[in-house]
Amino acid sequence: MTREEVRIESVWLENRRGVDGLGIGEPRPRLSWIASAAPDAWEVEFRRDDGVVHAVRLPAERTRLVDWPFDGLRSREGGQLRVRAAEDAGGWSTPLRVEAGLLDRDDWSVPFISPSPAAPAGTLRPGYLLRATWDTAELGIAPGRILRARVYSSAHGVSDLEVNGRPVSDDVLSPGWTSYRHRLRTQTSDVTASIVEGRNVVGAWLADGWYRGRIGFDGGLWDVYGTDVALLLQLELTLDDGSIVRVPLEDAWSWHPSPITEVGLYEGERYDARLLPVGWSTPGFDDRDWSSPTVLPLEDFPARLEAPTGPPVRVIEALRPVAVEAIEGGRIRLDFGQNISGRLRINVRGPGGHEVRLHHAEVLENGALGVRPLRAAVSIDAYVCAGSGLETWTPRFTIHGFRYAELEHWPGDLDSVDVEALVVHTDMPRTGWFESSHAGLNRLHENVVWSMRDNFVDLPTDCPQRDERLGWTGDIQVFAPTALRLYAAHGTLTGWLRDLAAEQAEQGHVPNFVPWLECGFPNFPTAAWGDAAVIVPWELYQHDGDTRVLEAQYESMTSWVDLVDRLAGGTGLWNTGFQLGDWLDPAAPPDNPGQSHTDKHLVATAYHVRTARIMAETAALLGRSGDEERYRGIADRALAAFRSEYLSPSGRVVSDTPTSVALAIVFDLFATPEQERRAGERLIELVAENDFRISTGFVGTPIICDALARIGGIDAAYHLLLQDEMPSWLYQVGMGATTIWERWDSMLPDGTVNPGDMTSFNHYALGAIAGFMHRIVAGLDTAAPGGTALRIAPRPGGGLTHASASHDGPLGLATSSWRREGTRFTLDVVVPVGATASIELPDGSTVDDVPAGRHSFTCTVRDAASDPARPPKRWRGGPHEDERAEAGAGPVAVDAPDAADATDTAVSVA
Ligand code: BGC
Repeated sequence: MTREEVRIESVWLENRRGVDGLGIGEPRPRLSWIASAAPDAWEVEFRRDDGVVHAVRLPAERTRLVDWPFDGLRSREGGQLRVRAAEDAGGWSTPLRVEAGLLDRDDWSVPFISPSPAAPAGTLRPGYLLRATWDTAELGIAPGRILRARVYSSAHGVSDLEVNGRPVSDDVLSPGWTSYRHRLRTQTSDVTASIVEGRNVVGAWLADGWYRGRIGFDGGLWDVYGTDVALLLQLELTLDDGSIVRVPLEDAWSWHPSPITEVGLYEGERYDARLLPVGWSTPGFDDRDWSSPTVLPLEDFPARLEAPTGPPVRVIEALRPVAVEAIEGGRIRLDFGQNISGRLRINVRGPGGHEVRLHHAEVLENGALGVRPLRAAVSIDAYVCAGSGLETWTPRFTIHGFRYAELEHWPGDLDSVDVEALVVHTDMPRTGWFESSHAGLNRLHENVVWSMRDNFVDLPTDCPQRDERLGWTGDIQVFAPTALRLYAAHGTLTGWLRDLAAEQAEQGHVPNFVPWLECGFPNFPTAAWGDAAVIVPWELYQHDGDTRVLEAQYESMTSWVDLVDRLAGGTGLWNTGFQLGDWLDPAAPPDNPGQSHTDKHLVATAYHVRTARIMAETAALLGRSGDEERYRGIADRALAAFRSEYLSPSGRVVSDTPTSVALAIVFDLFATPEQERRAGERLIELVAENDFRISTGFVGTPIICDALARIGGIDAAYHLLLQDEMPSWLYQVGMGATTIWERWDSMLPDGTVNPGDMTSFNHYALGAIAGFMHRIVAGLDTAAPGGTALRIAPRPGGGLTHASASHDGPLGLATSSWRREGTRFTLDVVVPVGATASIELPDGSTVDDVPAGRHSFTCTVRDAASDPARPPKRWRGGPHEDERAEAGAGPVAVDAPDAADATDTAVSVA
């Protein structure tokens, strides 16, 4: 390949893939780029805003997280960065804007400005408008001298900014939700194009958001972080001589109630369009009846001011309804065909004062919106028309989880309905795809993608609809590897881990959700949930090959493992205290989802082994040999305790449930291969006894198919994966699900909603199975952190005739795509530049060290029609009925299982 052919596809800073470098919070941001080939060397050029050009030549080996090769950036310093293959005349990458935000707290010299320093709790509060006017001439700035204008901002509450009537950014619910006591994120916005000569106005919409609004379940809490809503905004102009003018706005602010008469994240937003002060954020506006806000000194709020590590929340797409119908009671029902997180955008024509109400729900039940699962999140928006003709509106400061909406008091007939659903979530680039010959599997995968989208709304949440939407640690612990396959989620997770560490330090243990709220949930260390402190950074490292996240989280990781060691009294056996165990095992009663049939303390000790081992490996990677030894000691102790308490010498696992056996297999807890082999046989028996329906919860479900694949049970894994009777993944698909449900039977076969108080139709945890579809079904796996080595080992089965997965990973696109034509198996792979792959074909043959590029391999396999079908229900595992008959046990009843069978197959269809 000649040098001219090296194309640079994308360049980014730190974890900000797909995001520009404006407002970066690092003085020395690391660089990454993806290239179409490997040259002899790279050239990186940084053209600073002052015209000075710096260029360096870098060795060819690295294109990922390359140390910033220039002098460190100071606050506000910026320029254009580009990369090319050395001496390649034409091949520069598209320039990337790199500009530091305000890096030090001392760079902030403005106070918080509050239109509402306090408000009565218990009822919804309104929104507020703030405006400040300033004049370039009064500042002595001659026409044409402003090169750049920047707004640095944050808020207590949620805000939307405007300059001279134009939105400052398309961010939604800014600055998002962090653990505000510790960390408040700031935005850097380029407003150069909106600034005019003479008078200018900067304006802000403000509302309670997470900071002051009601959040949390069981009634929720008000004013969690403070009693005020307030804006922090610093406006700076860079003049043509490089000097910086900070526009003095402190005394220029005034406020007014906004047309948002009440708003809550859970409750919805009510907007009275008659109350909009038209032109309020433009210079000519008369604000004499506006009030002076309260000034709150910045020093009174000790939280760190930090640049975001990931992309903002935005409106990602708009969906048109797939069905619109008039229903009884005069409402109009809309079905958007997809369960989403977001809001409606309406175009409505009504007389002044006419109020339209917008109701939301994920499902229909008994012919009505199924709103019971929303609990206290009533999710009703209202728009009062101004009467000015065709009016367009979307709520600004609320968000709902819904597929269906109903319009109440719509002023017109069905034909006049012009409504879209706006999909709102963190704007992460998509990085993972899966496709196969099985339509149900493809829809399942699509549902996982949607549940991830709907639950990455600034932080990784459990669900987008009811009165939670919280950063439950256990959910992302099990889902993180899949999340990192599907989307560039690093930035979001890196930021959330900072909050986890901060709250852990404050509480002495990892809270069960982060940011934590004291709304009544037991605040105790919990296995599989608290283990997120160790496993999420580890999964980030595995995916990116970046040890920095391990360094940053090191103290958080070690303090979790140390705490569990203490809770286990140094014995390694964690058998005390509150545990969630294999949460939502289908055998657990609807009103007690933690009552799984797997021993909770078995789960706790298994996780203790896993995280202590990860800790030892982390310490080794970071060169902390003393710690490495100590954590090996803790891991060995926990392993010995697990074996003596929960394993029989022959390989039986106490609890004898699919989750307990799968944990022991996937976490490598056996003493001998023979034990693992026996346990593997037992696992196959157990899933067969249960007719290949799911009998695992949050802990077991993400690993059950991996465990089966590993011990020679790939066919059983396919039977589970392709099972469509409840409980199973495809049962949900068959019931029309468009996202992953919290409970296997969130909707019962008769179409009614599970009576449990905790029934969501949009939880990603059980969707962790998409990782199995990528790694095992399609065969695309990584063998080294950062994806420098790939393992491509497809395992065809289940009657599939083709499957493929792609991952646009740290080095670029990798693909594994196979098809079966009769007994001929063809595998096409793409290995990205910088990686090598080892190939394992289904006939057992292998090819090592496959270099970057496209390659094809073929072999002979059984044809799809010969894949074993799921054994009929009557086959209950153990001795086959013929063998039983031979042994004199008589035939096994088909439809009337005996009492022993009934208890063995403990599947709740309640
Ligand atoms: C959440 C879960 C969470 C669980 C643990 C639920 O209410 O929605 O996803 O992990 O509680 O108790």
